[in-house]
Amino acid sequence: MSGASHGTVVCRFDDLAPNTAQRFVVDGRPVAVVRIGDDLYAIGDTCSHADVSLSEGEVLCDSLEIECWKHGSAFSLETGEPQTLPATQPVPVFVVRQVDGDVVVDIETETAETAGGAS
Ligand code: FES
Repeated sequence: MSGASHGTVVCRFDDLAPNTAQRFVVDGRPVAVVRIGDDLYAIGDTCSHADVSLSEGEVLCDSLEIECWKHGSAFSLETGEPQTLPATQPVPVFVVRQVDGDVVVDIETETAETAGGAS
């Protein structure tokens, strides 16, 4: 066992179907983990517009976005920024990586450069 803290194993990489999102709760926070090919993304699972699970929406592989199924806002998987209305606030994005075939999400480290500024 190596040190704790740098992330939480949520599943095996092979358990993630390509081009889809899967919801996990990491330290009490819902996170949508998205696999596109061999790439992984982790984004806050709750739409910033209403309490809706983004992982139930569609993954847009070409534009690296996830689309909220409720009203259709598409969020960037890289920055969490909404690309289309009605959502105007970003959702958090997190560091996620593959370690020996495990998918590890680090929710301590939000990668969004837009963090902060909640009014
Ligand atoms: S709840 Fe997601 S866009 Fe409205």
